[in-house]
Amino acid sequence: MTIAGEFPREVLEILKASNRVVVMTGAGISAESGVPTFRQAQTGLWAKYDPSQLATPEAFQRDPKLVWDWYTWRRDLISRSIPNRGHLALVDLESYYPEFTLITQNVDGLHRQAGSTRLIELHGNIFRTKCSRDGRLIADTNESPDSPPLCPDCGSFLRPDVVWFGESLASGTLEKALKGVESCQVFISIGTSTLIEPAASMPFLALQKGATVIEINPQATPLTPMAHHLFRANAGDVLPGLTAEILS
Ligand code: OAD
Repeated sequence: MTIAGEFPREVLEILKASNRVVVMTGAGISAESGVPTFRQAQTGLWAKYDPSQLATPEAFQRDPKLVWDWYTWRRDLISRSIPNRGHLALVDLESYYPEFTLITQNVDGLHRQAGSTRLIELHGNIFRTKCSRDGRLIADTNESPDSPPLCPDCGSFLRPDVVWFGESLASGTLEKALKGVESCQVFISIGTSTLIEPAASMPFLALQKGATVIEINPQATPLTPMAHHLFRANAGDVLPGLTAEILS
C-alpha cells in the first residue's frame, strides 16, 4: 500500500514503462473545481436531492419541468467552474502514452475543457441536449423560453444528453471503454466511489486481466482492498507531481 503524497519507485517504474494505460474518473476529480460530488455526506448531490425524482426517465415523464430546471441549475453551476490541476495533469499524462483512454463518469465536460482528447464520457455530457423521443442531438436551445424546450422537428420535450438511472449507455460507448480496460497494463481509478455500474466493474476487470491497479481517493471504496497501490489523497494533490515524475 502506498501512502498519500509519496511516489514509490515501483509505481513510477511501472507507469514509466507501460504503453497502455486507462484512467477512470468520477465526481471526485471535479470536486476541487467546486463541482459537488454525489455520495459524500452533507455536500453530495444525492444527500440533498432524491435521484429517483431527478435522474430517471420516469421522473422526467412525471415532471419534465422539475428535471429540466434541476439540470439547468447544475449546468449553470458547472459553467462557473474551470478545470483544476488534476484535470490538467491528466492532459500531460495522456501525451506520454501511445495507448491511453480516459473514461469519465462525469458529465461536466471539464476533461475536454482541460484538453483531454482520448476521452470517453460514459454518462454523456450535461451541455448537450437531445430529443426525448428519438435521441437526436439538438444544437442550440439557449433562446427557448420553454422549460423544457421543445424539439424543433417533432415538438417533443428536449432533455439533457446524460445517462439516467435505468438507462443504457450510448451505443458503442461501453464497448469502446471495455476494449481499453481489457488490454491496459495500468488502470488508475480516480475520485469515484466505485459503486455505479458498469463503471464500477471496470477496475476489477482490469485486475482480472493482469493490469496494475492504482486508486487515488481520500476515502476507501470497494476497490481499495484490491488495488495494488493507493493514494489516500485528493487528486489535485497527487496527479501533478506524479505526472511530472513520469514525464521527467
Ligand atoms: P460519488 O459522489 O459517488 O463519489 C465521489 C468520490 O470522489 C468519493 O469516493 C470521494 O471520496 C472521492 N473524492 C472526493 N473529493 C476528491 C478529490 N479531491 N480527489 C479524489 N477523490 C475525491 O461520485 P461517482 O463515483 O462519480 O451517475 O458517482 C458515479 C455516478 O453516480 C455518477 O456518474 C452519477 C452518480 O449517480 C449518473 O448520474 C448516471
